[in-house]
Amino acid sequence: MAEWFGTCASPEEWAESLHVAADKKMPVFILGGGSNILFTRNVEGLVLQNTLPGISVVKEEEELYHVKAGGGVNWHSFVMHCVQNGYAGVENLSLIPGSVGAGPMQNIGAYGVELKDVFHSLTALHRKTGEIKTFTLSECEFDYRSSIFKTHARDEFVILEVTFLLRKTPVFNTSYGAIEQELEKMGVKDLSLRAVSDAVIQIRRSKLPDPVQIGNAGSFFKNPSIPSVLFSRLKAEYPEIPGYPSTQEGFVKTAAGWLIEQCGWKGYRKNDFGVHKNQALVLVNYGHATGEEIYSLSGEIIESVKEKFGIELEREVNVY
Ligand code: EPU
Repeated sequence: MAEWFGTCASPEEWAESLHVAADKKMPVFILGGGSNILFTRNVEGLVLQNTLPGISVVKEEEELYHVKAGGGVNWHSFVMHCVQNGYAGVENLSLIPGSVGAGPMQNIGAYGVELKDVFHSLTALHRKTGEIKTFTLSECEFDYRSSIFKTHARDEFVILEVTFLLRKTPVFNTSYGAIEQELEKMGVKDLSLRAVSDAVIQIRRSKLPDPVQIGNAGSFFKNPSIPSVLFSRLKAEYPEIPGYPSTQEGFVKTAAGWLIEQCGWKGYRKNDFGVHKNQALVLVNYGHATGEEIYSLSGEIIESVKEKFGIELEREVNVY
C-alpha cells in the first residue's frame, strides 16, 4: 500500500514531480509496470509510475529500423506493435509482463534473446540533478538479468525512452528447443514474426501463470552460474542436471527451476502461497498471501537448495 500515488507521462512531468517531492522531503518510489517486485511492507511517501507513451520509427537504415518507445508503454503491446509492423527482433520476448522502461533495468530475456541484443540507446532522467542523459549499449553494462540500473546506478535514474534496433529482414532465433517443438505442433511451414511470437505465447501460457489470475513475479530466482568443477561433480550424481554456457569463464549456468523441483518444492502450497505446479522457478500468491510470507518461502527454498546441491540461489525479483 502506498501513501501517495501519481503518474508521469512526460519528462517535464517527471522533473516537476521529483522537484515537488524533494521540496517536501517526501521519499519517492519509482514503479515501472510493477510486475517484478515483491512488496513486504507499505511504501512511505510518493509512488510514481512511468506512463510515458508512444512508439515511433525515428530512423531507417537499409536493413534496420530505429524504433523508439516511451518507458510507460506496456512491453507486450510494444512487441505486438513490432510484430504487426514487421520490425523483427523482439518476437521471442512476447508476453513478458512489465513496461518498456523496466526492460533495460534487468535486461529482460527469454527463449534465446535478451533485450541487449536489440538495444540501441535510452534516455534517462537523473533523479537528483534533473539532467537527461543518453545511455549507449556499453554504458548500460548489460549482463544476465542485470544492468547499471540494477547495480551501481540503482535508484538514480528514471528511464524515459528506449530506442531499439530492429531488422527489416528477420533473423529467426528458434534454437530454444521448445520453440521448434511448438512451431511443429502449430503446423508452421514458413516462419514469420507472427508464428514465432504465437509459439512463444503458447509456451509461456502453458508454463507460466498469468499474473492477472494468480499473483506472481515471473522467475523468482536467477539461474545460477556455478564453477565447472562443481557442475561436473553434480552431473556425475544427477546426469539429467541442465547445463548451459555461462558468460563467466570456468563456470556453467544451470537451471534454478530444476534444482528447486529436485528439492520437492514444485506444486507446494501452504495457505495462499506456494510454488507454481508447472514451473518451480515461479512463486505464486493464490489470493491473500503477504509479501513477507512469499519472501520467507523464498528463504526456505534457498536453504534447501543450498543444503542439497551446495548452490546459493539469488533472488531475481526486486524486494521492497
Ligand atoms: N526445469 C525443471 N523444473 C522446473 C522448471 C524448469 O526441471 O520446474 C528445467 C527444464 O526442464 C529445463 C530447464 O529447467 O531443462 C530450463 O527451464 P525453462 O526453459 O522453463 O527456463 P528457465 O531457465 O526455468 C528462463 C528464464 C525465464 C524465461 C525462460 C525461457 C530466468 C531466471 N528465467 O527460465 O524468464 O522465460 O528461461 O527463456 O532466467 C523471468 O525472468 O521472469 C522468466 C520467466
